[in-house]
Amino acid sequence: MEHQTNERLLIIDFGSQVTQLIARRLRELNVYCEIHPYQMVTDAFLTEFAPKAVILSGGPDSVTREGSPRAPDSLWNMGLPVLGICYGQQTMMTQLGGKVDSGHGTAEFGRAYVTPQGKLPLLDGWFKDDKEQVWMSHGDHVSEIAPGFEVYGTSPNAPFAITADTTRNFYAVQFHPEVHHTPNGAKLYENFVRLAGFSGDWTMGAYREKAIEAIRAQVGDKKVICALSGGVDSSVTAVLLHEAIGEQLTCVFVDHGLLRLDEGAQVAAMFRDNYNLNLIHADESELFLGKLEGVSDPETKRKIIGGLFIDVFQKYANDIEGAEFLAQGTLYPDVIESVSFSGGPSVTIKSHHNVGGLPEKMGLKLVEPLRELFKDEVRALGVELGLPTSFIGRHPFPGPGLAIRCPGEITREKLEILRKADAVYIDQIRKHGLYDEIWQAFVAILPVRTVGVMGDGRTYDFACALRAVTSVDGMTADYYPFSHEFLGETATRIINEVQGINRVTYDITSKPPGTIEWE
Ligand code: XMP
Repeated sequence: MEHQTNERLLIIDFGSQVTQLIARRLRELNVYCEIHPYQMVTDAFLTEFAPKAVILSGGPDSVTREGSPRAPDSLWNMGLPVLGICYGQQTMMTQLGGKVDSGHGTAEFGRAYVTPQGKLPLLDGWFKDDKEQVWMSHGDHVSEIAPGFEVYGTSPNAPFAITADTTRNFYAVQFHPEVHHTPNGAKLYENFVRLAGFSGDWTMGAYREKAIEAIRAQVGDKKVICALSGGVDSSVTAVLLHEAIGEQLTCVFVDHGLLRLDEGAQVAAMFRDNYNLNLIHADESELFLGKLEGVSDPETKRKIIGGLFIDVFQKYANDIEGAEFLAQGTLYPDVIESVSFSGGPSVTIKSHHNVGGLPEKMGLKLVEPLRELFKDEVRALGVELGLPTSFIGRHPFPGPGLAIRCPGEITREKLEILRKADAVYIDQIRKHGLYDEIWQAFVAILPVRTVGVMGDGRTYDFACALRAVTSVDGMTADYYPFSHEFLGETATRIINEVQGINRVTYDITSKPPGTIEWE
């Protein structure tokens, strides 16, 4: 798809863990940017990409090592503003004639304080006092700045914490302004894009219009199918496409029988009634639950569900005559991960469920209107498109659904108990006004029955675990610190209201070492 603005900033990635945060900070300033690994950024790429400014990220290597990563040489003669961060600063200095040292006394990790020296527009409004907190994470340091540069800030271990060549608009900082522990770091990015002349035209309203134009140009009068899961990404994709091409779009909602209480009906009603969208509600729960019978291994469950999903989707899609495109809610982080810095395969912790491989199998072309957006931008676009905020703000729900919240063998009985318990738990969280503070919350039904006593009788029912985590992206997570009162009240409600559960536990494992889901 065509990009959506003429003003683009390029981030050259040298492999820092926090490069994505640079992009986040810039998007918050309504500046469109893309991250590309340094290996891909050749001189030809630079010319073709035509950025308005460039940021060089941090990275794990040492510029003193022979063969270590560099920015393309043409960058320095393009007349573009460049900001180098940490490793980016060091390669900038090395390439422009300065010196970087490695070894004893050059490292600095964690909180540090930078003291200003002279006046630099990049720092306008940044120093609140005579020093500013920053986050350092470097093994090497610059020992000699390149010709044309001057020092504008120092820290105890980084004599050249902030340097600049104002004539050429080159800026270099040793610390990471993008991270939370550099509390006013966003100000530096704000100043940098101002100095680079960005107008900040990257708004959701503008994105929506341009995305619609781009979809129309790509699809023409052809038909598009879209797998609707009821999650935020596929829903926003569907609504955006519907607005662009109306009747040419058909959505297939595969109900695998592993959804939450009343979820299937709610999703179908919302899209049919509010959007008048062509929707096939494929109730295939019998098929899925039948194939899952007797299966308890987590990976086997995932593979069965993923495989069946593709078969079922294909069956319905084949009936839609003349479909040439498949719409997918791919997001920007998925795109970045697919060209990871290391280039090597990462370990598969869990096989994620998606429609991967489907387009090739069916000979369909892809429409991915969200591939430039981060998750919170997708939410903003959803709001812009009129999706209810209660829907947009829903916690993530995994593709394999309740199957991975039912460790061990899945039975209809367990699923029914789980649905009811989950509904009570979420109701509790909403009643206490905690829903939006929590990233994801759900109940898992455990494959164990325990003894209890209710009234005068003995019970022998299932135990369940409550899970609630805070997170930014699902990659790491911490358990939510509910009060004991809340937990007690919720346990009582679940045991009283849900027949089949007589014991409630709270899962306080963080990720890592745990995962968010139980399987
Ligand atoms: P884990 O359990 O890996 O989950 O810590 C991280 C986030 O990913 C979601 N998740 C999935 N989402 N298909 C999905 O679409 C999957 O197969 C899948 N497995 C886990 C999980 O709900 C959490 O938000």
